[in-house]
Amino acid sequence: MSVAKTIAEQMEHASWIRRMFEIGARLKQQRGEENVFDFTLGNPDGEPPEKVISVLRRVVDQNRPRSHAYMPNAGFTAVREVIARQLSEQTGLAYTADHILMSVGAAGAINVVLKSLLDPGDEVIILVPFFPEYQFYIENHAGRMVLVDTDDTFQPNLGRIAAAITPRTKAIILNSPNNPTGAVYSTEFLLDLEALVSGLDHPVTVIADEPYKSLIFDGLTLPVIPSLIRRTVLAYSWSKALAIPGERIGYLALSPCLPELEALRDACTFANRILGFINAPAIWQWVMAEVSDLQVDPRPYQEKRDLLWEGLTRIGYEVTKPQGTFYMFPKAPIADDLAFVRGLMDEGILAVPGSGFGRAGYFRLSLTIPRRTIERALPGFERALHKI
Ligand SMILES: Cc1ncc(COP(=O)(O)O)c(C=O)c1O
Repeated sequence: MSVAKTIAEQMEHASWIRRMFEIGARLKQQRGEENVFDFTLGNPDGEPPEKVISVLRRVVDQNRPRSHAYMPNAGFTAVREVIARQLSEQTGLAYTADHILMSVGAAGAINVVLKSLLDPGDEVIILVPFFPEYQFYIENHAGRMVLVDTDDTFQPNLGRIAAAITPRTKAIILNSPNNPTGAVYSTEFLLDLEALVSGLDHPVTVIADEPYKSLIFDGLTLPVIPSLIRRTVLAYSWSKALAIPGERIGYLALSPCLPELEALRDACTFANRILGFINAPAIWQWVMAEVSDLQVDPRPYQEKRDLLWEGLTRIGYEVTKPQGTFYMFPKAPIADDLAFVRGLMDEGILAVPGSGFGRAGYFRLSLTIPRRTIERALPGFERALHKI
């Protein structure tokens, strides 16, 4: 067989996603689309703001000279300057175009920085439950994923992180607001983490993966990680903020406080090239220069969170209320989350087992569905709980 064992094993490990998709498609065929309540999708609800589309039209019509040519691997300087100005205002730090690398989404940004930081066998700490792709991103660069559990409300514990750090630890990935839990990490925790990281005798970089940064509920203010943790590399994308995940546009921002800034910037720029991204999509870079601070309204997601959270807790589910994102991570009423998700399927409800995110005994629901679907699914959630 010509396919490498490594990727075959990774595909097997990730096959629950494909299985869920296949089961969903079969259920829809059997019961009719309208009788299947699909809570598995991570695709943002609705269309991008009209302004994004009108700027896109204008950028295409303008057809600037050399618009479609190769460019510096970090992206157009003028675009990076805009992002840098915006970040400087948000963080109080002196970002310039030199700190910004335009990327192929947040996924591209994370791969670029991991490629730049990891030697084979180096370790990356991940907080559980976690976005499952992290494991593959780390393995892409021969790193080793080290899992550290969060508490029952999905908040991190500094002592557990400290205990997991070894001389091989190169990075810690923080994802707040979090997929799959919707948890937001507190300023106190971030300051404690800064004290921990800055006291180490070798550099450990915090990668703040923040594609859900603008989807925050209840008027909460999201702590600004680069202002609190000096060794921060920010991975951002507009996939969720502007409902454009298919356009693959984001950036990596290296903190001006990083002591080895120049070397890391050069490494990331080179990594962007040799990973085959070369540069982020050209047209979308120009669009972002004009709409970078725009975002979709998080209130419809918040309203759906309230509807689903109130419905599920009234029925008897234990659910930590998400503070952001468009996900919810309720506790399954039995330890076997796979069995419970199968029970939900009997009611036409599709959910993702918590085991896929490293935390068995839970399941993930996505709010990227119409309100009406939530209302119609609640009786099924109730029957599934009572059957148990
Ligand atoms: C936590 C997290 N990080 C990164 C990504 C990748 O984002 P992008 O599509 O912008 O590459 C996702 C996408 O779902 C995500 O949930």
